[in-house]
Amino acid sequence: MSKNRFIPFSRPWIDETEIAAVSEVLASQWISTGAKVREFERAFAEYIGVKHAIAVSSCTAALHLSLVATGIGSGDEVITTPYTFTATAEAIRYVGARPVFVDIDERTLNMDIANIEAAITPRTKAILPVHIAGLPCDMTALQALCRKHNLALIDDAAHAIPAAYNGRYIGSLGDVSAFSFYANKNLTTAEGGMITTNSDALAAPLRTMRLHGIDRDAWARQSRRSIWRYDITTEGYKYNMTDIQAAMGLCQLMKLNKQHERRRHFTQIYQTELAKFAEIRLPFFPANPREHAWHLYIIQLLSHDRDAFIDAMRAADIECSVHYIPLHLFRFYQEQYGYREGDFPRAEAAFERVVSLPLHPGLTEADVRAVIAAICKFLGG
Ligand SMILES: Cc1ncc(COP(=O)(O)O)c(C=O)c1O
Repeated sequence: MSKNRFIPFSRPWIDETEIAAVSEVLASQWISTGAKVREFERAFAEYIGVKHAIAVSSCTAALHLSLVATGIGSGDEVITTPYTFTATAEAIRYVGARPVFVDIDERTLNMDIANIEAAITPRTKAILPVHIAGLPCDMTALQALCRKHNLALIDDAAHAIPAAYNGRYIGSLGDVSAFSFYANKNLTTAEGGMITTNSDALAAPLRTMRLHGIDRDAWARQSRRSIWRYDITTEGYKYNMTDIQAAMGLCQLMKLNKQHERRRHFTQIYQTELAKFAEIRLPFFPANPREHAWHLYIIQLLSHDRDAFIDAMRAADIECSVHYIPLHLFRFYQEQYGYREGDFPRAEAAFERVVSLPLHPGLTEADVRAVIAAICKFLGG
């Protein structure tokens, strides 16, 4: 038996508060979309500082609906990063559009904005940046590019809560933003997502489309008792969130700043203690105007084998991960869109070097120091 405490890469931060809130919803017998979802949407919109928040079943659903609502469809092109989870590009494919990848900035791991203009064609309809690991993209530059070329700005904010740019939270700066509440995210509802927008014109169809295009959901119908009749006013999807998820989300929202403080504290220890290793590139640590959400802490190994590093950490009971295998290296993206190895050399180079170290609010300072000690041992420091 191992004498080390196993240090997981990620864990949700759940306590009695969520358990009680979920139990209360179960006891109420109203378990699908209802009053809790509405309450969660209002609280989330207020937190982000945005007019509308629309709760959905996942970030993938949020991205899909955002693309539909902004009128993107078959034959259109959407510029995004290959350095992301497949959901980002998968949603572009849902609407029949083509994901056009541009290479990344190796320091930030975000899409390199300098590469975007060359990728714009008459078919381009939107830019879909991802705030990788929680580091906000340069939203001022992206907004200017979108204005100049009349493109929608839809940001994948799956990692970016609470991340801020120029004093405003991510989620309030694009035309539409998509958040993930998947189990490993900074705010989790097990599965779930949220769309945020300041646009009334986009919010209305988004609300309707997330539940079959029905003009009034079951909660609204039952609240008015006798009104059972409804109309289908637009195309629809089965993307609604349940009250069980929303009850959990409300608790997680209350803890969001606290969990962020813990993530930031652990990040600062990593950053200070690992700075002595010339063979490690530390994550880009932004100063104003960017506030990092620290969803992931991604280091780059400049002169050691990444896989050997992960194996050595695993032998020390420390779980690490890799974010991301660039999408253009997957068979599906190669067969579907003709992408090839070599197309995005900076994304490929980063992929060979990256390791995501354990980072979550349930860690202790001793855990973080154990990770650092294991890294020291591996690097012979
Ligand atoms: C960058 C990014 N976008 C989108 C998603 C999809 O989120 P969900 O699982 O909520 O659909 C993820 C999930 O991990 C992600 O990391």
